[in-house]
Amino acid sequence: MISVAIDGPAGAGKSTLARRLAANLGYIYVDTGAMYRSIGLYALRAGKDPRDNEAVNALLPEIELRLDSIEGEQHIYLKDEDVSTAIRTEEAGMAASAVGANPAVRAFLLDLQRNMAKTQNVLMDGRDIGTVVLPHATVKIFLTATPEARATRRWKEYQAKGINTPYEEVLADVKQRDYQDTHRAAAPLRQAEDAVLLDTSELNFEQSLDAMKEIIAQKVAG
Ligand code: DC
Repeated sequence: MISVAIDGPAGAGKSTLARRLAANLGYIYVDTGAMYRSIGLYALRAGKDPRDNEAVNALLPEIELRLDSIEGEQHIYLKDEDVSTAIRTEEAGMAASAVGANPAVRAFLLDLQRNMAKTQNVLMDGRDIGTVVLPHATVKIFLTATPEARATRRWKEYQAKGINTPYEEVLADVKQRDYQDTHRAAAPLRQAEDAVLLDTSELNFEQSLDAMKEIIAQKVAG
């Protein structure tokens, strides 16, 4: 099986690029951030602090997380509810980052993620795919951009959706999430030694896509 691991900080364009690449390559796209977001959302809805490991751990046995692909789009479900849209808020992102620091949550998701890569060609994005989840991935890409470039992109996405979060707030969130994701003890965000670094600060979407296609083609075609 071929696996492509894409890691990097929030807002580097991972999911948009990964989704398009997976469609091009005919691989299954696995958005692991969506899994952490769903658990974060579940904790928030249960009235629990996502940073409280004990409280979140007590919820894990009742969490039924399921992924499905509808017309090539990944949908994520909590039991029977499609939460694909509900998890896309800044609040759910922060909650995801908080539960992502919880080792029990990471263990809970690890098997699910590895199993997906066992039976099909996947393109998986997250923070620890190349380092922990798929250490033997065929291709590893570490996608990054400056905090300002990433905040600008995220702010534009919000504007397009009619969400009026001020830019300063988005930038502060990006920086806080970077800090949390890189400083946690459990599977912190870092570039795998054998990952190819791609900085997209100065690249537009198509240029980033082409650069990634080239990296993949070199590794997959040999
Ligand atoms: O990629 P994203 O913004 O949807 O991810 C949300 C949060 O989930 C991110 O800040 C950290 C956490 N996460 C993680 O810890 N490990 C992953 N493989 C993916 C996401």
